[in-house]
Formats: sequence, structure tokens, C-alpha cells
Amino acid sequence: MPLIHECVVTTLSPEGRPHIAPLGLIEEHGYWIAAPFRPSSTLLNLTHTPKLTASFTDDARIFAGLVTGCRNWPLTDIEGWPAPRLSAALAHAELIVARVEEHELRPRFFCKVRRIESHRAFLGMNRARAAVLEAAILATRLDMLPREKIESELAYLQIAVDKTAGQAEREAWDMVRAKIDAHMNDVKAGVAQ
Ligand SMILES: Cc1cc2nc3c(=O)[nH]c(=O)nc-3n(C[C@H](O)[C@H](O)[C@H](O)COP(=O)(O)O)c2cc1C
Repeated sequence: MPLIHECVVTTLSPEGRPHIAPLGLIEEHGYWIAAPFRPSSTLLNLTHTPKLTASFTDDARIFAGLVTGCRNWPLTDIEGWPAPRLSAALAHAELIVARVEEHELRPRFFCKVRRIESHRAFLGMNRARAAVLEAAILATRLDMLPREKIESELAYLQIAVDKTAGQAEREAWDMVRAKIDAHMNDVKAGVAQ
């Protein structure tokens, strides 16, 4: 399996407005591949403007916020490039779509890296941040996963949060948990599946 870079991608709407979404970029054979599911704004935007910016951040609250409806994270313009980066990015990459592999569910946009720039120091891996990332992905797939799997994964991820989270990671975890807990309560009450 190829390496996947979990990042926040900026694309441009047909009107030129920046749109941010968490996305895993697949690094394979010299390309970085964006594979957004249909339907999504990221997919629509890439079809109009085949350029994107990948922001690499260690702030788990941004991933948590984006999957729970909080989208107004500050952006910074990039000179000579249309899609802004997250202001909080430790580094960003500017990507140009070189070709598209069509698919009815999940087309693949094969991109070439134009430039990578660093902005702040990366101060090491952290288990709680990784746990928030996993929970954020779970939170985008709640309707596809059985209740038992969601509960057992959350219980496991909670251990890393309890042992290694700082304030920001606890806030991020609580945001994602609140969304997942609300879904689980709906399921129990028979509102969702
Ligand atoms: C860490 C992370 C990685 C994700 N990677 C993908 C991905 O590769 N493809 C995808 O379609 N959605 C992915 N998602 C879910 C999207 O962010 C989510 O569906 C989002 O709403 C995109 O839709 P939008 O472009 O309409 O905003 C990921 C979510 C997270 C938290």
C-alpha cells in the first residue's frame, strides 16, 4: 500500500472561493493522488480548477472542526498561486492536476508537486493527535459502520487521548466525540439506521 498524507486541502469553487476539506493524498509513482468521493465540493472544484494546496498541520482541532461543521479556519494567500493555505500550516504543498482517472464513485486526480514550503517547526509525533485523526475519519463514515465497530474503536482511541493529549487535543477529541455520541444516541432512539 502507498503512503497516504493526511492533510487539509484547499480547492477553489467555480466562483473562485477557497474551500477546505480534510483529505488523504496518496503518494504513488511520483504523483500525489487526490481521491474525493462523489458528490463533494472538492471534486466539483478540482474539475473546474485543476490546482490545489495541501496544508500539513499538527493542530488536531482543525481536523475535528472540519468534520463537525466548523469551517472558518484562517487562510493565508500564497504569492503567485491561487489556492490559499491554512495559516496554521507547518508546511504546504502546491499541486497541479496532471491527469484524471474517472470513476463513478471516486475519481482519482493525479497531481505533480509544484513546490513545498515550510513555515513552522514540527515538534514530533503525538498519539492523541493520531487518535483524533482516526476518530475524525470515523465521524465521516458513521452511516457505513456498525455500532459495535464504532464503539470498540473509540474505546481504544480514548486510551491514547487519556495518556498523551494536551489541551488542544482534548478539545478536538471532545468535538469529534460529541458528533459521534449524538449519532449513536440517534441510532439507539431509532432516528438513524
Ligand atoms: C483525515 C481525513 C481524511 C479524509 N480523506 C478523504 C479522502 O481521501 N477522500 C474523500 O472523499 N473524503 C475524505 N475524507 C472525508 C472528507 O473530508 C469529507 O467527506 C468532506 O466533507 C469532503 O467533502 P467536501 O469536499 O464536500 O467538503 C477524509 C476525512 C478525514 C478526517
